[in-house]
Amino acid sequence: MPTFITLDGIDGVGKSTQIEQLCSHLTQHGHDVLSVRDPGSTDIGAKLRTILLDSDVKIHRRTEAMLFMASRCEMIETIIRPALAAGKTVISDRFLLANVVYQSIGGDVQPSQLWELGNLANAGLKPDLTLLLDMPAHESIQRIQGPADRMEARGVDYLESVRQAFLEQLPHASHQTAIIDASQEPAQVTKAMLTAVDRVLNPS
Ligand code: TMP
Repeated sequence: MPTFITLDGIDGVGKSTQIEQLCSHLTQHGHDVLSVRDPGSTDIGAKLRTILLDSDVKIHRRTEAMLFMASRCEMIETIIRPALAAGKTVISDRFLLANVVYQSIGGDVQPSQLWELGNLANAGLKPDLTLLLDMPAHESIQRIQGPADRMEARGVDYLESVRQAFLEQLPHASHQTAIIDASQEPAQVTKAMLTAVDRVLNPS
């Protein structure tokens, strides 16, 4: 059964490692897996990603919101929808939930407006499952390596408000959702994630 799973959470929660674990587990269990990342994964998306994460590029909040939407729209229409139609299991590193959360912080744009704009950009595509990797911002910020991107450069209080917004908006993100405690050992995080995925893939 084609299934669309997204993972999200504040920076530093270990998303990339857990996505690798999830993809390899599903592949070993016979799924034809396609992994994408938002923003990115298409030519236009990769270019927009560079602009959007460059701390030196000044962008108005609404412009920023719409460029993230545009990148995702392109990825959905050229990659995700065809993959689901071919029976694949698609795993996306972030999705519309991140857009609603990150671009509503600051108050210029309301979450409800971003969900509405997102539904237009996504033409109704909603994930089957969204996994939220959750941990306090003061822990996650210590795990971020390398130079800070535009979002990360905003500090721990900002990151904690992002975390709270994720918890608030999660119920709207997907047909099913799960909050995974990402401050556990990585193997425990993987186990919790696979339990949630299994519930969606093999409903009783
Ligand atoms: P990441 O792919 O390494 O998580 O980095 C993407 C950054 O972009 C991250 O800080 C979250 C942010 N972001 C938004 O602000 N809006 C969006 O719509 C998405 C998908 C990501």
